This record gives sequence, C-alpha cells and structure tokens, in this order.
Amino acid sequence: MCGIVGHLGPQNSVETVLEGLKRLEYRGYDSAGVSFVDEHNELCVFKKSGKLENLKRILEGKNLVARSCIGHTRWATHGEVNDTNSHPHSNDKIAMVHNGIIENATTLKRELIEKGIKFHSETDSEVFLALLSDQVSQDVPFKQAIINSFHRITGNSAFVILNSETSEIYAIKRGAPLVCGINETSSEGLVSSDPYALAGMVHKLYFPEDDVLCHLSAANKNLLNFYELDGTKTRRYMSKTPDISATASDKGDYDHFMLKEIHEQPELIRSLTQYYFAGEGESALQDVANLRPERVHISACGTAFYAGLMIKDFLEQYNQIPTVAEIASEFRYKNPLIKSGEMGLFVSQSGETADTLAAQELCTEKGLDTISIVNVEGSTLYRNCNHNLIIRAGVEIGVASTKAFTQQVLTGRLLSYALSGDLNNPERRVALASQFNLLAERVDYLLAQEEKIKAIAKEIYERKGYFYTGRGMYFPIALEGALKLKEIAYVHAEGYASGELKHGPIALIDSEMVNVAIVGPELYDKTVSNIQEIRARKGIILTIGPKGDTDLEEISDFYISLDFSDLGDLGPLYVNVVNQMLAYYIALYKGTDIDKPRNLAKSVTVE
Ligand code: F6R
Repeated sequence: MCGIVGHLGPQNSVETVLEGLKRLEYRGYDSAGVSFVDEHNELCVFKKSGKLENLKRILEGKNLVARSCIGHTRWATHGEVNDTNSHPHSNDKIAMVHNGIIENATTLKRELIEKGIKFHSETDSEVFLALLSDQVSQDVPFKQAIINSFHRITGNSAFVILNSETSEIYAIKRGAPLVCGINETSSEGLVSSDPYALAGMVHKLYFPEDDVLCHLSAANKNLLNFYELDGTKTRRYMSKTPDISATASDKGDYDHFMLKEIHEQPELIRSLTQYYFAGEGESALQDVANLRPERVHISACGTAFYAGLMIKDFLEQYNQIPTVAEIASEFRYKNPLIKSGEMGLFVSQSGETADTLAAQELCTEKGLDTISIVNVEGSTLYRNCNHNLIIRAGVEIGVASTKAFTQQVLTGRLLSYALSGDLNNPERRVALASQFNLLAERVDYLLAQEEKIKAIAKEIYERKGYFYTGRGMYFPIALEGALKLKEIAYVHAEGYASGELKHGPIALIDSEMVNVAIVGPELYDKTVSNIQEIRARKGIILTIGPKGDTDLEEISDFYISLDFSDLGDLGPLYVNVVNQMLAYYIALYKGTDIDKPRNLAKSVTVE
C-alpha cells in the first residue's frame, strides 16, 4: 500500500528519497510525490498520478539540491487517483505524507471548514495537515502541534511531516508501519514505512512503538530523538542492525520477480531446514515447545490464510489440538469465542496486514498467548506477539506471494513438531529434516521441467474459467492455486473441495471450463470419480497426479505427473509449485503486469 520515505542529511535528499520510493514500487501504488526545502529555503512540492517515472519526468532539469525531503507513493483509499489527491499535502510552511486511514476525517473536516479552513483534495490525509496548520497558526510549538493533532484523529495511520522553517522531519504512527534509520558515517537520518527502502543506506534501524514521536534534526546529537506524547524523551522503540541487502531488488536473469521467487524455493527450504534444525532457529523452537494451548486460533489473510489452513491440519493431526482457522477480517469483528489458556497464531509475510494485526491485538486483550509465523523480523506483528517463528523467505517483491507460502507452511510444520515434544528425539528430528530436504530436491527437479508447464499454459490460457479441486490437505492448495491465477492473470478461478463441485458449481462446466484436478493419495478413487463427472460434461481436465498412473493420464486432457508418494504431508507444497508456474505462464500469455497486478498492493495496511 502507500509508501513513505523521508531523508535528512548532507547528501542529496531528493535523490535518496526517489531511490527509496523506487524500492517501494513493488508494494503497489497509483501516484507519487516529493517535498523538500530548496537552497532558498523554499518549500517545494512535486506530485503526479501514475508511475514514479511520471514524477521523475516533471523533476527533470530542476535544481534539486536539498538536505531534507519527504516522499510518498499513494494507493488511493479516499478520493480518486489524480495529482491533487497525491501526497505530499502542504501549505507554505509544512508538507506531510500519510499512510493509513483517518476514520473520523469527515467529522473533523466539517469542524475545520466551519473554522474557515479550506481543503484542496478529497483525501482524509489533508485533515491532518489542516489540524496541524490550525495549531501552528495559534502559535503552538511545532512538536506540540503535531502531538495535539495526532490526539484528535482515530484509526490506524503513520504520518511524516516536514517543517520547512527548520528542515526537520517528524514521524508518528499508530497501528501502521514506520521505521527510522541512521547512517552515522554520513550523518544521514531516514524514515520509511518499509525497512526495505532503507536497505544499504543505514547502519541501524529503529522501529518506534505506537504513539512515539520521532524527530530527525541536524540539531540533535544523534540526528534522531524519540518522544512520548507528553513530550518526554523515550526509548520505546526496537533497534536492529539491518539484514536486508539492496540487491534483493535485482531480478537477475528472470523476466519477473515472481518467477525468480518461485525458483528461489529449493534453496530457501534448505536454508530454513538448516536454521531450525542446526542453527539459531533451534532456540525459537525451544521457546514454543513448552506451550500447551487448549485450543489454537489461526488468523490470517489471503495466501497466508491458506497456509494457516494447512497448519491447522498439522496441529490437529499431529498434536491433537483443536484448531480454528478464521480469516482475520472476520475474526476481529465476530466476537470470537476465545479465552486465556488458548493460543492465537498469526501467519503473515509482511507482518503489517491491518486485519491480522487487529486479530492479534484482540487475542492479547483476551489474555491469549500469541505466536507469529512471519517473514519480516521487526514488523509490527513480530513485535506484538509473545513468540515468533520467522519464515526466512527473504524479501518478496512479486505481489503474488509464492515463496512465502511455502516457507509459512513449513514453519507451521515445525511449530507442530516443537509442540509434539519431539525436539530432543534424534530419530524424529532426522526424519523431518530429511523430508524437508527431499521436498527441496523434488522442487528443484520440477523447476527443471518448466517448459512442460509452459506448454500446457499455452494450450489453456484462453479458456473461460478454471476450477481447482483437491481433497484433504490438497484442498487449501486448490484454493491457493485459484487465488494465484485470478490475481495475476485476471481470469475467473475458484478453488473447491473435489467432492463439493456437484453441489452447485458443476452447472458451470462446459467445454470452455478447465478443471485443474489435484489428485493426492487421500481418497484417490473418490477424487478420480469427481474427475469423471467433469469429463462427462466436457470440461477440460488438467490433472496433477502421481507418476506412472496411466489410467488417470488417459482420462485427462493434460497430465502433470509428480513423484510425491514419499513426501507425505509436504506433498501439497510440491503440487503448489506447479500451480505457481501454471499461473505465471497463463498470465505471461495473457500479457498482464505479473509483478504488479492491477488494483493489488503487496502489504494491505488498511482494513
Ligand atoms: C496473494 C497475497 C495476499 C497476501 C495477504 C496477506 O498472493 O499475497 O493474499 O497473502 O494480503 O498478506 P501478509 O502475508 O503480508 O499478511
């Protein structure tokens, strides 16, 4: 969603901010803008709807010397996509950018209009600028004016504000991501909504907690100070040495990040195995091993939720722990039956998904132990949970999640292993590590067969619709396969439990519909009967099934054979890589924007 970058320092601030915004492009946006104080101490604002390139074009040939600058990429929530609604919003002295939603914006705007304040945009964000301007016009000192304005708003937001009179930058947030960073060697201070924007630019990262005011100023001894809302200095932040490399944004020899990330999976599986079985991850498993939850509540969104469905199966099968998996946006508002003694488990790549964070907060309020299975260390979810298992997927740039899903499910399997009390059982340990390594090997082999999947994609990419079907642990994979296809290829696709199709959706089957039928070992005969039902209605059958099954191959129009009989409960992850590649190549033939599909954002920080 919206991206924020701010920079203060002797280096060229505008260039640094533009570089940061470029790195945030992957998150999805529709407009971009910057504001800085030029060498005549004038506040300059440039903003443009569309790609960052449009903004860069209007900056061309301008003298952009500045020692503080803030910038923004907008993903519209209030008001259409146009130049005026783009950020920064400004008056002659102050510029500000905003990430999130001001929920009481309409009430506040009415009040401010009655006071004679004029608005230029349709955004909720401008309300904060109006509150701040109003305070400053009453001679309230700048820092206090921000605090007073922040007190007035409700909802989850992060703001970064540039004061042109002092060239200082302030940042503050509640329930939205924010990170500051310092480069001591070059005396630069930065702030962003995503640590990835600061990769390679800073030596230390600081993640402020909610309601902490961050102040970047050349007048501060260490450039960066933190304040409570009562004005006193605070240490309510988490500091961390950055571990993301700036080169993660390199596609290498691949045409898309999505394809690169699909191909990274075997190595990531191996590295996860090493980390948790023979590395520093062992202590994280020990940390959760003694938990004895009466019940587990899994909450997540989208792909991460489907990973949660698989984890639910692990916890029920291997640990006999009753487990409920619920979409976070539903869980948070349904007054769920939860109580202390139970455990909240939250699955997320970004660790910043607003609904997942709210679900976590609810569990904490009710006294539950909370665990995250998360990619971004230091993210809000990571900081808010009592226990964390990181998935070590590296930076995921493609909007469609691929490698994170695989790592989430595997990490969930590790959680189940830790809870089973088997951590000190050498046989169990070796067996599970070998199973992980076998999966990596099989995915390697599969990736070498990419051409076959590409050829099938070419045959079916113009069809009307797609049903992905599976049973048991292959059902969440059917859901995930369909989600992947619809989000990047813009075609209608649905995931169904194989036995459920005849209870309605089978009415849609004709010679234009494809059934991607996943045939795992569970209920084999029943699943084959379901395929026959589709075939009888002239549906196109693409089966992903066991190697050497000639009968199954015969009743299918296309057959992708996999050797997954010995992979056990990790077989679904193997199949899922086929689905990832199928979605990728169908989208490629359709000519869509694979890494940045329309209307989507990488990290959904508003509800
Ligand atoms: C789909 C996808 C989304 C995310 C969902 C949750 O490919 O990426 O469905 O899985 O928005 O995001 P995180 O995992 O960051 O909480």
